[in-house]
Amino acid sequence: MTDETSQKHRLATRLSHGGRPGTKVHGFVNPPLHRGSTVLYESMDQRRAFMRKRLDQALTYGLQGSATHHALEDVIADIEGGLRCQIFPTGLAAITGPLLGYAGSGDHMLMPDSVYGPVRTFCDGMARRLGISTTYYAPETTPEDLAPLIRPETKILYLESPGSHSFEVQDVPALAEVAHAKGLSVLMDNTWGIHAFQPFAHGVDVSLQALTKYPVGHSDVLLGSATVADETHWRRVRDAALVLGFYASPDDCWLALRGLRTMAVRLAHQEQSGLTIAAWLRERPEILRVLHPALPGAPGHDLWKRDFTGACSLFGVVFDPRYTPEDTHRFVDALTLFGIGASWGGYESLALPTTGFVTRTGSSDLGGPAVRFHIGLEDTGDLIADLEQALHALATPPTVSDSRTA
Ligand SMILES: Cc1ncc(COP(=O)(O)O)c(C=O)c1O
Repeated sequence: MTDETSQKHRLATRLSHGGRPGTKVHGFVNPPLHRGSTVLYESMDQRRAFMRKRLDQALTYGLQGSATHHALEDVIADIEGGLRCQIFPTGLAAITGPLLGYAGSGDHMLMPDSVYGPVRTFCDGMARRLGISTTYYAPETTPEDLAPLIRPETKILYLESPGSHSFEVQDVPALAEVAHAKGLSVLMDNTWGIHAFQPFAHGVDVSLQALTKYPVGHSDVLLGSATVADETHWRRVRDAALVLGFYASPDDCWLALRGLRTMAVRLAHQEQSGLTIAAWLRERPEILRVLHPALPGAPGHDLWKRDFTGACSLFGVVFDPRYTPEDTHRFVDALTLFGIGASWGGYESLALPTTGFVTRTGSSDLGGPAVRFHIGLEDTGDLIADLEQALHALATPPTVSDSRTA
């Protein structure tokens, strides 16, 4: 798809037509799946010419990616409004790889306290051992409060908006402006807003995606991406991926491309279903508040309305404080249509108590025990009926075990 075509069409059309370089080859609709490590040269002259080029300008080895990788990269770069995209084997690798590309020994990073847990583990463990220090800031921080945290050695402002467990929406343009004024690079986990937040129009330098979620859409592949809007950032991201040897299976890239073809339709259903269920839960006496940025009145809604064009189907609820975390475990156990599991973006609904996951410096207390929901493609009415019976089970005191009555 040419740039002109890309800009003219909406997401669903672009997802149908982008990343299909093989369409004209033999008439097949889908691009071919290229597997390969060795790339053969026609002659030593050609090899010498290739070796003189920059790594991303000549394909000399499988690590640099095949036509299958590049087809997927083109679609992701297009969705995010970027220039180029690098595929990583997981969403986590798409975060740690670029972080290592931007920070080295003696450098400092600013991370939101709501950051995806394994990134925190990386910062507090491996990054620290490599001499990279981290300060966690409250995700709702204002630019005025962020500025004093920036030190001469600070290299990265990292954003995750909304936080994937506590759903704070960050003021991305304002925070990015402060960071850029001090020479920082702005890296953002944009997984929640893949279809609904244009990172580069809001001051982000590197947009990170866990493609594992909605793009793959079927809970069967892990994959990540880092997209940039200019050549300078491209060099950093690309070099980090190649030097560290990150390589995603072309089979997985092919499955992600297939998932992407239906992503707009799935997300349209899931967004609507998620909002209907979130609004229903908000009216329940057991629920203190709903953490869904797209729901009017919910925390972060004003910023969401200003910066986002839609929502996905991942949100949280905080139970009334009369309930304990164990009560929410009983509630989740009573659900029949919701799986108990990590990740999101698949066709199946999930529920996960998150009280222990939410570590925050700022407003540390959500007010009660929390549960995170991912709404899948099931019928919305069936899901609500399931939630209703599980809430009813919550009202019933747990049965006393035989051993205790004996
Ligand atoms: C917000 C967010 N970012 C990144 C990741 C990492 O993705 P992956 O599981 O592909 O490593 C996840 C996974 O749950 C996530 O929720």
